[in-house]
Amino acid sequence: MRFSMILLCFIVMMLCMAAGSNAERLNDCGIAPLNTRIVGGIIALPGSWPWQVSVHFNGRPTCGGTLIHSQWVMTAAHCIVLTDINKWTLYLGRETQMTSAANPNANEVGVGVQSITIHPNYNSTLYNNDICLMKLNQPVTFTNYIRPICLASNASVFHNATTCWATGWGRIGKYEALPAPQNLQEVEVPVVGNRQCTCQYKPTEGDIITTQMICAGEAGKGVCQGDSGGPLQCKQGSLWVQAGIMSFGVPCATEGFPEVYSRVSEFHTWVSENVRGAEIGFVTYLSSGTDTDTNFKCNATVSNVCTLTFSHFYHFIIIFTTLVLNFLSYSCT
Ligand SMILES: *[C@@H]1O[C@H](CO)[C@@H](O)[C@H](O)[C@H]1NC(C)=O
Ligand SMILES: *[C@@H]1O[C@H](CO)[C@@H](O)[C@H](O)[C@H]1NC(C)=O
Ligand SMILES: *[C@@H]1O[C@H](CO)[C@@H](O)[C@H](O)[C@H]1NC(C)=O
Ligand SMILES: *[C@@H]1O[C@H](CO)[C@@H](O)[C@H](O)[C@H]1NC(C)=O
Repeated sequence: MRFSMILLCFIVMMLCMAAGSNAERLNDCGIAPLNTRIVGGIIALPGSWPWQVSVHFNGRPTCGGTLIHSQWVMTAAHCIVLTDINKWTLYLGRETQMTSAANPNANEVGVGVQSITIHPNYNSTLYNNDICLMKLNQPVTFTNYIRPICLASNASVFHNATTCWATGWGRIGKYEALPAPQNLQEVEVPVVGNRQCTCQYKPTEGDIITTQMICAGEAGKGVCQGDSGGPLQCKQGSLWVQAGIMSFGVPCATEGFPEVYSRVSEFHTWVSENVRGAEIGFVTYLSSGTDTDTNFKCNATVSNVCTLTFSHFYHFIIIFTTLVLNFLSYSCT
């Protein structure tokens, strides 16, 4: 009896110590206690992505987002159709978009917005710097279904073919929804290096892949499933690190167009400076080996014939450079 009391005290003490040391960890980001699968299906099990946010405008789901702190959510700048804070509600711990008796979204919390900060250099034509921070009007309590993700620090490296996951409620365009009951979707997608991605986007005219962007996806996978503002997340050890914010793509293209995300690591300083002292969990994601993208040759522009033809026109048609380049990349591939 005495022994078991001592044992009990000991266990309680150990539990308290474990809880204490957990609480001291920076923001406790990137932990999904209920995400136990190595390979997933299409519908995410409840709690698999506890930082996934459903961003609602005027009562309708508009975009995805991520919880990065008990009082901060990150999404894409292009999601912000209007900065009137009263029109926005953020749903955390949500599983399906159609709440009913059968799908009660029992772990969900809805929160209003206190402020919206769009990146000052957001370019609405090129979708460059497509990032936005929303401050919740009250902090949320973390549960197994509501937890923050870690953000890729500015020292992070993502090589071509790094395996990550995209999650969202799967709208194809801004207003095209999934069939009922609209469960959160997940899809495994490989990172596509910026050289290759730039090359693949050449024929679309006007889409420019910048260093503030990261691409991911492969033919027939991922292109329909993403959700603007939602995360591209990669697991390192036991932690999930957000690499990207879903920005644009060629929806459901037959092939050759990975999805384009805002590169989270490029916004390390901007995020730190705009969360008003809140501690955000930044983690450095590193890829091993060498990046095969470094040696990627874009055949559309390196063809000698094309370069030669182009050089003839070069001095005369400066204004039409883009036009000619596009024509050449078409005719040479
Ligand atoms: C976006 O960038 C392009 C190219 O630099 C520029 O011409 C355009 O004016 C910019 N648009 C906005 C809305 O900032
Ligand atoms: C990038 O990775 C993909 C596999 O995800 C591969 O098919 C492709 O060849 C790689 N690109 C380069 C330039 O190595
Ligand atoms: C990375 O971000 C931190 C925090 O904003 C900053 O102090 C540091 O200078 C940045 N490093 C680089 C290489 O940009
Ligand atoms: C580019 O062209 C070379 C030579 O024709 C070929 O070996 C290579 O596979 C091509 N690369 C791509 C990415 O199509």
